[in-house]
Amino acid sequence: MIRLYVNVDHVATLREARKGKEPDPLLAALIAEKAGAYGITVHLREDRRHIQDDDVRRIRQQIRTPLNLEMAPVEEMVIFAEQVCPHQVSLVPEKRQEITTEGGLDVCGNEQELLKIRERLHPSAIKFSLFVDPVIEQIEAAKRIGADSIELNTGAYSELGPGEERECRLLELRQASAHARKIGLTVFAGHGLTPENVVAIAAIPEIEELNIGHNLIAQSIYHGLENAINTMMIAIKQGVAQR
Ligand code: PXP
Repeated sequence: MIRLYVNVDHVATLREARKGKEPDPLLAALIAEKAGAYGITVHLREDRRHIQDDDVRRIRQQIRTPLNLEMAPVEEMVIFAEQVCPHQVSLVPEKRQEITTEGGLDVCGNEQELLKIRERLHPSAIKFSLFVDPVIEQIEAAKRIGADSIELNTGAYSELGPGEERECRLLELRQASAHARKIGLTVFAGHGLTPENVVAIAAIPEIEELNIGHNLIAQSIYHGLENAINTMMIAIKQGVAQR
């Protein structure tokens, strides 16, 4: 069975819209665990637009499953990871203006810098993963610097509807997965996955882990809204009964 890591960033996105206490990504992480998530993923962005430092600490302390911390390859984040000691760090490229992660890391162009980060995290036994596009050169560079795994960026595939172009992106992902496994890397994938497009990704035999966030949080609004309205109606009726 593929290990599903649930990304709870967008629970924090909603909380940050009010800068209040709810919804709490820790609570969402605990629900995800109860629902069968293998692990929890959070992306601590440099601009702290959703997940905050304290969220990561609370989630790390209170979940029983592994924590995957996505972060940019910068000093501030490395120090934070050394303190929090998640099960795994996934390095992702980050641009301030982007709405979400836009592409994979340029491992080839930053080998020395990434190698230094791996060496910093190694003594804490933190697994080291790199988010890359399905490009053979990037995967080989990831192997050279001693990554435990790569997470293949499914973003380009996920943006497309069914058709020839999507099949091409899928083929790239299949070939990249097979190559990564052949050279000894563990293979994960994620970005933009939905129940419709995840089927072909889950069918790729080398993929062991998926990171999924946005669709799960969006769907949970649809599925949870009726319950929430019912609870509110009951409370309103209690008030009306006291008139
Ligand atoms: N993997 C990485 C590296 C990401 O940055 C994200 C988005 O935070 C995901 C997976 C999950 O993508 P989505 O939220 O579209 O499911």
